[in-house]
Amino acid sequence: MATPSLLRRPHIRPHLKRLGASLRWTLLSTLTPSLSLEQRVKGKVVLVTGASSGIGAFTAQRLAAAGAIVVMTARTEDKLTKLVQSIRDHGGKASAIRCDISDLDDCDRLCRRVIDEHGRVDILINNAGRSIRRSVVFSVDRFHDFQRTMQLNYFGAIRIALNLIPSMIERGDGHIINISTLGVQTGVPRFSAYLGSKCALEGWTSAAQNELAHKGIDFTLINYPLVRTPMIAPTKAYDRFPALTEAQAAQWLCNAIVRRQKRIVPTSGLVFVGMNYLVPRTTEFLMNIGYQVAPESFSKVTVLDEERQARKRASITPLQRH
Ligand SMILES: NC(=O)c1ccc[n+]([C@@H]2O[C@H](COP(=O)([O-])OP(=O)(O)OC[C@H]3O[C@@H](n4cnc5c(N)ncnc54)[C@H](OP(=O)(O)O)[C@@H]3O)[C@@H](O)[C@H]2O)c1
Repeated sequence: MATPSLLRRPHIRPHLKRLGASLRWTLLSTLTPSLSLEQRVKGKVVLVTGASSGIGAFTAQRLAAAGAIVVMTARTEDKLTKLVQSIRDHGGKASAIRCDISDLDDCDRLCRRVIDEHGRVDILINNAGRSIRRSVVFSVDRFHDFQRTMQLNYFGAIRIALNLIPSMIERGDGHIINISTLGVQTGVPRFSAYLGSKCALEGWTSAAQNELAHKGIDFTLINYPLVRTPMIAPTKAYDRFPALTEAQAAQWLCNAIVRRQKRIVPTSGLVFVGMNYLVPRTTEFLMNIGYQVAPESFSKVTVLDEERQARKRASITPLQRH
């Protein structure tokens, strides 16, 4: 008697369909960028998290102008209300639902409401995020920094995706865009809590993509470099660094929606990936020198705090230190 095979027959056709669509949209977006965005999003329900400011707010407005039905979410209701009104004044379709994405029950409520009101989500942009700039040595008694970045940037984002994936599978179509950072490639010092959460998001995205590719669901990861938004405003040193504008960042997102690439990363990110594999110690040396040169914080309060901590460390004898 023949042993039944443990292997199942794979579905190849969805991959061929996807390849065809990818070639078509790449060509179309090269020839007519704005028209291709309109064709891609017209009448589509797009859920944008973190839509009350920065990249999310700008992108929501661009998508609504291109004909999408935009559902905007964040915690600050008055900002959302103003943005929705402005979109409607310009003839676009938008609505707002308040949600604290670090609260998982709130994420479930948000998804239920969007499905009740719109029947589906075609495109999910997991954009809400928080960043914390603090060295590991100053985080030893701040475990909550690691918990709150994970709660919002990872758990909240995947909770929303998990809510929506079943209906995307049912329809055989869906696009989930997860916003990450160039820091994942560079390992930029002082962002361990933030990068940990974004790496978790990236790991989840890669596995989920490999499982759902034949179900018509596409995932895109965007590794943004610095973008001039309220998020980086508290770090005054960034005023002197080159950064994308919100409009440019929104354009990256629009391109991602049209072409559904797997990942969008600046060339510098690819250089860092190569360097980390080929010359890891040299890369580490350069990053560490950069870390030592840059102050912990540029705000007066934290500089004082640093000085206090430094004095405290100096008062500990070498024996105590070991
Ligand atoms: N700016 C950069 O240089 C940069 C670089 C790489 C990646 N990114 C990523 O880009 C994304 C957007 O950031 P941004 O630069 O546009 O920052 P931003 O202007 O500070 O926007 C962050 C958005 O997230 C929302 N948010 C924060 N906590 C939330 C919570 N608990 N629940 C729901 N919404 C919450 C904020 O709205 P409320 O406060 O109203 O809730 C706001 O709409 C983030 O994922 C960030 O990690 C940014």
